[in-house]
Amino acid sequence: MKNKMSRNALLQKVLFVLLVVLFFMFALWAQQPPAKAPAPEYKIPPEAAAKVNPVKPTSESLAKGKKLYGFDCAMCHGANGDGKGDMASDMKNVTDFTKPDALKSRTDGELFYVIRNGKGEMPPEGDRAKDDDIWNMVNYIRSLAKK
Ligand code: HEC
Repeated sequence: MKNKMSRNALLQKVLFVLLVVLFFMFALWAQQPPAKAPAPEYKIPPEAAAKVNPVKPTSESLAKGKKLYGFDCAMCHGANGDGKGDMASDMKNVTDFTKPDALKSRTDGELFYVIRNGKGEMPPEGDRAKDDDIWNMVNYIRSLAKK
């Protein structure tokens, strides 16, 4: 009888240890980072893409755009728009505006949207610039494409 009691106690201990081990294994498993969800696709709302540029690319507009570009964009996109600014060295795929077809498939509205809201590693211009300032920059970067 006494022998049976101690065997039960032993069994209980073993079960307890097993449970603890299982618990820790579960805790470790639960800590694994979840499988990475694919990065959401960058989407420009159709109404933003369809926006018509109200600013004509006059020499005045280009001059204003160039000035702001020098302050806010050249450090990445390069002083002449080739995508080789100082900050671009450790950044992939900074758009090269001198490539004739870099912006070809983009509407002015899409460029406006990207400049205002940022994209990937490009920070948003946000409220720093007025609408017309952004349109001036759209005109300016379009003028950089080599013919
Ligand atoms: C910190 C670096 C950085 C700065 C500053 C920056 N850009 Fe960019 N820009 C990028 C990168 C990187 C991309 C490519 C983004 C992508 O496609 O993921 C890009 C892409 C673009 C594109 C192309 C978007 C497309 O989808 O075709 C335009 C237009 C653009 N930038 C304009 C500007 C203008 C105008 C400014 C200044 C107001 C500016 N950027 C400032 C890094 C920068």
